[in-house]
Amino acid sequence: QTGAAAPADLAGLHAVVTAGPTREPLDPVRFLTNRSSGKQGYAVAEALAARGARVTLISGPTQLATPRGVTRIDVESAEQMLGLSLAAAAEAQIFVGAAAVADYRASEVAGEKIKKTGESLTLVLSKNPDILATVRAAQPGLFMVGFAAETEKLAEHARGKLSNKKLNLIAANWVGNGKAFDTEDNALQLYWPEGEQEIPAASKAEVARQLVDRIVSLYQAR
Ligand code: CTP
Ligand code: CA
Repeated sequence: QTGAAAPADLAGLHAVVTAGPTREPLDPVRFLTNRSSGKQGYAVAEALAARGARVTLISGPTQLATPRGVTRIDVESAEQMLGLSLAAAAEAQIFVGAAAVADYRASEVAGEKIKKTGESLTLVLSKNPDILATVRAAQPGLFMVGFAAETEKLAEHARGKLSNKKLNLIAANWVGNGKAFDTEDNALQLYWPEGEQEIPAASKAEVARQLVDRIVSLYQAR
């Protein structure tokens, strides 16, 4: 990192960032979750704050310290993250959905600890609401950025999510086999309606700064 301060070109704007995994309860002592560390989302929140934005970070459970200049709200489940995202997005201009939201939750959360009985156990799951799509429907004018975690057909799947969720920009990364989740470095492929850009492998802080550069230029050109 150079010593030069980032330009305060997001001053006066409010950005909301979701980050980390969600945690979907099964019973009073167990939950479903995923390998997200939250590092890339936290780095994006820090990079937005460094550009002068007021930043609200809506975070699933992580081991991370709150970045400088960022207001953090802790949540566990996808439904909690959705409720707080809708509230924060109502007075924001930029929304970045970096959270690894659990796609499904238990259809019924057991009130007591599930007992070990049969030789197998079948869990019935229900689809969680899509936070980005729901926030978009509520806030048509918001500048919205999503992530796409893929193990195959990166461009095709990422462009599909960009268009289905009506996003302004999507940041795609390869996951699995030690890539991206719970690692220090990351690489992103960015897609927006009229273009694309590769951010080569670098620290998550450096990747976040380059992503925020692209957010600023697309936001200013909107
Ligand atoms: N996302 C969301 N709400 C969900 C699931 C995902 O807002 N219930 C957001 C993520 O934060 C991310 C983007 O959608 O910004 C893409 O997440 P991803 O898991 O790659 O895609 P899905 O739409 O969930 O599709 P699939 O998992 O089947 O690839
Ligand atoms: Ca998913």
